[in-house]
Amino acid sequence: MKRPIIAGNWKMNNTNAGTKALLTELVPLVKDAKCEVVVCVPFTDIDTARKAIRGSNIKLGAQNVHWAPKGAFTGEISAEMLRELKVEYVLIGHSERRQYFGETDESVNARVKAAIDGGLKPIICVGETLEERESGKTAEVVIRQINGAFKDIEKYDLKKIVVAYEPVWAIGTGKTATAQDANDTIAVIRKALRKLYGKTAANAMRIQYGGSMNAKNADELMSMKEIDGGLIGGASLKAADFARVVNYQEIQ
Ligand code: 13P
Repeated sequence: MKRPIIAGNWKMNNTNAGTKALLTELVPLVKDAKCEVVVCVPFTDIDTARKAIRGSNIKLGAQNVHWAPKGAFTGEISAEMLRELKVEYVLIGHSERRQYFGETDESVNARVKAAIDGGLKPIICVGETLEERESGKTAEVVIRQINGAFKDIEKYDLKKIVVAYEPVWAIGTGKTATAQDANDTIAVIRKALRKLYGKTAANAMRIQYGGSMNAKNADELMSMKEIDGGLIGGASLKAADFARVVNYQEIQ
């Protein structure tokens, strides 16, 4: 059985004081979670977060990593720097990075390789825009993003990788994909992975849904066959809300 994984993506929120307060509140609320629990915090909060979750079942994640191991890349952070701070997971290719910071399928692929080489577990984000969805291009877009992100990634590295399907139009908008739509597109993503790596490896991969997932809709989304977790933005900024998502109840 795959262990579901629910991760909070704090984006550019919380200073060190807020990080300590939020995680101190969160630790006891999620201690009995059946799923793997991750918080992806801003770089400057990593050390505070590491201390606040020490001894708990919460794992530490970052929100980006550079593709080079070191060098003249002003403002960037390497995998080794993150590993030194005990970071385990890293988001790569979030739609906000693609939209505002010029992230491409090629740079996503380069970052995925650097993350794996550096001992990090990538959470690769894919998803279509509203325009792409409305013009019937959802499948084409996510397949292209998957093929790009996984170029030259070896099968034996797959168990370290998580995929997050985040339709761009559902992020921060309060619009969630219906559970069925999310499930269907994740099935398309899994099919693309099957084509690259075969059935067993693709079926074993964990694919999250993200986009206005919250305390109210988590049970339904997590009950879908293809959905193996969640990537939570806004609702991960309140301990009680995030805990409710993490402690989701399967609907039969
Ligand atoms: P929201 O949950 O705020 O819609 O954000 C989703 C997201 O982008 C997580 O990475």
